[in-house]
Amino acid sequence: MNTNINNKMPQIDDDYINSAEAFQNVEKFKQIMCWYGCAIREVRTKLEVLNDDFQANYARNPIDNIKSRIKDPKSIYDKLKRRGYPITLYSILDNLHDVAGVRVICPFIDDIYTVADMLIAQDDIRVITKKDYIKNPKPNGYRSLHLVVEVPIFLSSGKRLMKVEVQIRTIAMNFWASLEHQIHYKKTQENVDDVIAQLTQCANVIYETDTTMQTIRKKLEAEGKLTME
Ligand code: GTP
Ligand code: MG
Repeated sequence: MNTNINNKMPQIDDDYINSAEAFQNVEKFKQIMCWYGCAIREVRTKLEVLNDDFQANYARNPIDNIKSRIKDPKSIYDKLKRRGYPITLYSILDNLHDVAGVRVICPFIDDIYTVADMLIAQDDIRVITKKDYIKNPKPNGYRSLHLVVEVPIFLSSGKRLMKVEVQIRTIAMNFWASLEHQIHYKKTQENVDDVIAQLTQCANVIYETDTTMQTIRKKLEAEGKLTME
């Protein structure tokens, strides 16, 4: 058994997983999906630890809940095709950043940055990209903080660095994003602008409410009148 955990990346599979043939190999595909599952567990554990520690120190949770998912094989295949990437297992690891996805739902806007900063500060986490759709909302009003991070997983063959997409948003932003995602409208020229304008209006109202709720909390905190469950 190879016991060089911590030493170097195992090279053993790289040639094979770089071949088109391996994409059809269900066992290899499953193994790689298993690595993504491990990476999700690492990130979830880090977030849970931070949440527990924050509760112990400040008697409040900056995370309301965490959801995670692994992209399904058809979506992986479709995305590689759409983007013109090679259809290989290596290409999945190299080119796709959202095979492993973790969504973190926070009570307040400032919790988003607290959680992100605490996660990014960890010395085994490397930030690949950070997109702040709260400071720069999408044209339709979508708001969230998106990170793509690289996290080590420790396998019997050694260490692997895996990419995980982390989306962090408030409960209210998540309410909007979930419903907006469900609304499939026929994109005819007459209705499309109107639908988008209404959805954007909803997103803006939600953002205002988020901001007000945060102001209320901060005021009570400053006055020492805050008791939160
Ligand atoms: P992809 O590679 O296609 O995922 O896009 P990207 O790399 O440009 O990432 P981006 O940060 O734009 O979005 C990634 C993910 O954020 C999406 O897969 C969705 O889960 C979420 N997202 C982005 N924009 C929207 C939006 O307008 N509405 C909703 N509901 N979700 C969004
Ligand atoms: Mg995506």
